[in-house]
Amino acid sequence: MHRLRALSLLAFTGALSLAVEGAVTNTCTAAAIPYPELFGADIISLSASTVTNLSASLIQADSHFPLNITGLNFCNVTVQYTHPGQNDSINVQLWLPLEGWNGRFMGTGGGAYATETGFQSLPYAVSMGYSAVATDGGHASGVYYDPSSWALVSPGNVNWALLQDFAAIALDDAATIGKAVTTAYYGSPPEYSYWNGCSTGGRQGLMMAQRYPSQYDGILAAAPAIQWTSGIVAEYWPQLVMNQIGVYPPQCEFEAIREAATAACDELDGVADGIIAAPGLCAFDPRAVVGQAFTCPGSGTNETISSEAATIALAAWSGPRTTDGRFLWHGLNRDASFAGLANTSCSSPGNCTGQPFPLSSSWITYFVQKDPTFDVMQMSYRQYDSIFRQSNNQYASIIGTSDPDLTDFREAGGKMINWHGLADEIILPNGTYDYYQRVLDLDPNAADYYRFFPAPGVAHCAGGAGYFPDNVLQSLVDWVENDIVPETLSGTTLPDTNGTVRRAPLCPYPLVAAYNGGDINVASSFECQTSF
Ligand SMILES: *[C@@H]1O[C@H](CO)[C@@H](O)[C@H](O)[C@H]1NC(C)=O
Ligand SMILES: *[C@@H]1O[C@H](CO)[C@@H](O)[C@H](O)[C@H]1NC(C)=O
Ligand SMILES: *[C@@H]1O[C@H](CO)[C@@H](O)[C@H](O)[C@H]1NC(C)=O
Ligand SMILES: *[C@@H]1O[C@H](CO)[C@@H](O)[C@H](O)[C@H]1NC(C)=O
Ligand SMILES: *[C@@H]1O[C@H](CO)[C@@H](O)[C@H](O)[C@H]1NC(C)=O
Ligand SMILES: *[C@@H]1O[C@H](CO)[C@@H](O)[C@H](O)[C@H]1NC(C)=O
Ligand SMILES: *[C@@H]1O[C@H](CO)[C@@H](O)[C@H](O)[C@H]1NC(C)=O
Ligand SMILES: *[C@@H]1O[C@H](CO)[C@@H](O)[C@H](O)[C@H]1NC(C)=O
Ligand SMILES: *[C@@H]1O[C@H](CO)[C@@H](O)[C@H](O)[C@H]1NC(C)=O
Repeated sequence: MHRLRALSLLAFTGALSLAVEGAVTNTCTAAAIPYPELFGADIISLSASTVTNLSASLIQADSHFPLNITGLNFCNVTVQYTHPGQNDSINVQLWLPLEGWNGRFMGTGGGAYATETGFQSLPYAVSMGYSAVATDGGHASGVYYDPSSWALVSPGNVNWALLQDFAAIALDDAATIGKAVTTAYYGSPPEYSYWNGCSTGGRQGLMMAQRYPSQYDGILAAAPAIQWTSGIVAEYWPQLVMNQIGVYPPQCEFEAIREAATAACDELDGVADGIIAAPGLCAFDPRAVVGQAFTCPGSGTNETISSEAATIALAAWSGPRTTDGRFLWHGLNRDASFAGLANTSCSSPGNCTGQPFPLSSSWITYFVQKDPTFDVMQMSYRQYDSIFRQSNNQYASIIGTSDPDLTDFREAGGKMINWHGLADEIILPNGTYDYYQRVLDLDPNAADYYRFFPAPGVAHCAGGAGYFPDNVLQSLVDWVENDIVPETLSGTTLPDTNGTVRRAPLCPYPLVAAYNGGDINVASSFECQTSF
């Protein structure tokens, strides 16, 4: 059905004969670009228009720094389609460089509940000469934390089609549509296809490797929200502990604890650089600093660290446990900000409330409880245990993104790089270690096609005091196209208060960047070894 429709439209637009002759159309009009064929879908519309001299300021696109991109010229193609019977309507946006196409195609990822970050990721890809695609997954574009517009068809009833689209299906579709439109526009298919995403975009990259293993030759998946059904519920844990204790410390108190922990564990990796590169060796106990003074900005008075704040910090670092003490999930590393998962806000000193990370609380409310009126603040420990189990029981096969069997990806010849900031305040980095170790347990040679690089001191996707992997996309391209194995990534810090930028290699797990002596600001003072 969909095929007939596509063919008749091709004939109508006259583009079929061009495609058959293999001529380069390079015409940025809807009439010149045939409807892509997509099994299981009906294309509703296709529009195309030329965009010239576009500028964009990107806060997060494979860079520690904001990137300012100017002078982009591209063909902007939007394809709208539905999966008949599912009542969804998905918009796929493609940007095709008008000049200097590098022969490559890129799928770009989303963040939180947004299937795409379109305007954050597309300009970066196009500026490097890629044709690039982003999909809204059938949801309102750019809505990161509030799934209320699409999660439920009615209270109690999940919108399974849109959840599946977000989790996986729309990502596969976008790759197929994106490659077809790229091929039609340039008259030849992309030579290589890449995925680039962080957070939800990182999860999506792993979903592509696990479920659609031949769509992308190279996958860059940073700080991946994999093992979603555990990890997202685990993100609520520090709030649960605060609710149970009934104390909500101000962020300046948590910051004092974080600074004490960082000072205590900084040198366990051999270098005093304000970064905990060996979090597994850090056993700092916050009860040691109970009673220590700290000052909050703007308040001239000194406070002292409370035992409740120490208890909450320890819980946030340990991660969730069942009421009978069994492990549920990992915690934060000790140099990560508490403002992500143990966030609080204070209307006056001493009068603070918990501010749950909204992705986590809305996952529990809308998907596990399926009840917009569910009050997460009233949750007991026992109820939380149950919600943790139910999240996995009901959703692991849809969005868990935790299958360690990458045989099909390996067989397809794919290459994948993960990196994860160890000071990530949102997605617990030990989840990524855990996943990678499970991949290695199944395939001890997985490093031949899949490498994981922990990035000490880097916060969620970017930021923080640590070593961001600059040029990581180029490392992936070199691996895919020239067989240059990424033995290390090049890590770079943001400038410190004196403007000094420090560099160190990022090493593939299980190796770590051990200090050899010399200037701690230069990469050659470090070497990848099995221990610090
Ligand atoms: C392109 O946009 C910049 C501003 O971003 C402007 O200064 C420049 O004149 C524009 N160039 C052309 C050719 O329109
Ligand atoms: C990009 O622009 C912002 C302000 O718009 C500026 O703060 C930032 O430093 C610029 N980044 C670069 C790499 O020039
Ligand atoms: C691309 O086209 C779509 C659909 O017409 C439009 O909504 C979007 O704003 C366009 N993007 C740019 C950057 O012009
Ligand atoms: C299809 O979705 C639209 C909104 O996207 C909604 O108004 C309509 O009720 C849905 N139809 C069915 C049969 O579910
Ligand atoms: C992460 O895993 C390491 C190694 O198993 C362990 O030593 C460490 O305590 C874990 N950290 C967190 C925050 O869960
Ligand atoms: C707060 O404590 C610091 C160090 O503990 C001390 O230097 C400072 O004088 C104190 N300020 C006040 C207002 O008590
Ligand atoms: C913490 O909560 C405040 C108040 O709701 C909010 O403005 C801020 O963005 C939150 N911080 C983070 C890191 O989410
Ligand atoms: C705490 O703040 C809330 C508003 O956020 C206010 O209603 C309440 O009266 C305050 N309580 C005290 C004891 O100041
Ligand atoms: C910046 O330079 C000053 C003076 O050399 C030094 O005391 C300070 O420790 C430096 N700060 C950092 C963050 O390196």
